[in-house]
Amino acid sequence: MKRVQVVIIGSGPSGLMLGHILHRAGIETIILESRSQDYVLARVRAGLLEQGTVDLLRDNGLAGRLDREGLIHHGMALAFDGERHRIDLSGLAGGKVVTIYGQTEVTRDLMDARAASGAPTVYEAEAVTPHAFDGEAPRVTYVKDGVTHEIACDFIAGCDGYHGVSRASVPAGAIATYERVYPFGWLGILAEVPPVDHELIYANSPRGFALCTMRSSTRSRYYVQCPLDDRVEDWPDDRFWDEIRRRVDAPTAEALVTGPSFEKSIAPLRSFVAEPLRFGRLFLVGDAAHIVPPTGAKGLNLAMSDVRYLAEGLLEHYGEKSSGGLDAYSGRALDRIWKAVRFSWWMTTMLHRFPDQTAFDQRMQEADLAYLVSSQAAMTSLAENYVGLPV
Ligand code: FAD
Ligand code: PHB
Repeated sequence: MKRVQVVIIGSGPSGLMLGHILHRAGIETIILESRSQDYVLARVRAGLLEQGTVDLLRDNGLAGRLDREGLIHHGMALAFDGERHRIDLSGLAGGKVVTIYGQTEVTRDLMDARAASGAPTVYEAEAVTPHAFDGEAPRVTYVKDGVTHEIACDFIAGCDGYHGVSRASVPAGAIATYERVYPFGWLGILAEVPPVDHELIYANSPRGFALCTMRSSTRSRYYVQCPLDDRVEDWPDDRFWDEIRRRVDAPTAEALVTGPSFEKSIAPLRSFVAEPLRFGRLFLVGDAAHIVPPTGAKGLNLAMSDVRYLAEGLLEHYGEKSSGGLDAYSGRALDRIWKAVRFSWWMTTMLHRFPDQTAFDQRMQEADLAYLVSSQAAMTSLAENYVGLPV
């Protein structure tokens, strides 16, 4: 049987980042991924990195292209009731900024670094299964090209996303889950057109939420809130652009540059947390442990802060022979996770139209927004959370 120190399940951003940090510290890993490399790279997801995520990438020698191509944003805007209100993020949050750099680019940089390091990744690994993680000698089995493989290890990192096998392998009585499913989705498109503004615009309108974001100065990403049972075929480009125009303030609608989309997808919105994050020698990391609606741009960033905490614990275990960091992992990570879950839920609640929204709910939403843009304290709270709470 083959042996490595840490088996990492999943080659999304969290698995790749953890693998990279551990490899640099001389800790042996293998990454097992159920999909192909091309499939993982083609998934269009998050786009906004917190300062802490950028710092983690930079501290680990991964920011070369990010520093050249990432777009630094000092502010963002909220549009409602026909007006656009800028929030001075860096001014309110002690100089911190956010950076636009797509998850696909982060993933590509991490995959390139892993390939250059020579550390192994098995793509299209089938039936990946963690075993005996409640004891001293965990193992992971998988099937590749019809052959079953078994790997002995010290620890298993479950970085395999919301639908992965890691969380599903934990006995039901050992794990608590908390969930809110929202009654709408986000329809997102990518188009080779310049962004309508150099900063992001989050819009609350009677027709529902809209977000104007970007991937570069020539590539835009737009989202609209849509019913959960809508399909992408229901949304030809013309209908999409019309809808965006009707949901933003007039000057933004006027400035919008449209063009053919080359990607279009619908994502459901959910808040979900599993507790704890450690089960003997198995750790849950990133989307395997928690999901947030994208309104606060927290999903990828939370995955990265989990990785930072777990990597610190593993480095401490192998370097200083201390279990302190690993014992603290679940508590430290969950403390930050719950605050991001609250922020994402609040942003989602304030900015979307809910099908069962009463007149009272509607007035509360309006008051929340009016208070926010009139109060330095409220804007500071938004800015502090949006740029990312301390790690
Ligand atoms: P993932 O990226 O999900 O990676 C997990 C990996 O594990 C995948 O490669 C998967 O193929 C693999 N895997 C799964 N099961 C197994 C198995 N059994 N064996 C082996 N491998 C397995 N966040 C934002 O901040 N903004 C957004 O706009 C945004 N949009 C999103 C849209 C969608 C459709 C989704 C699903 C997520 C979105 N997110 C967004 C969230 C963000 O993309 C995630 O938080 C981030 O990808 C988490 O990284 P991860 O590595 O923990 O998990
Ligand atoms: C994105 O650029 O895709 C993006 C940005 C901010 C969000 C969600 C998505 O809140």
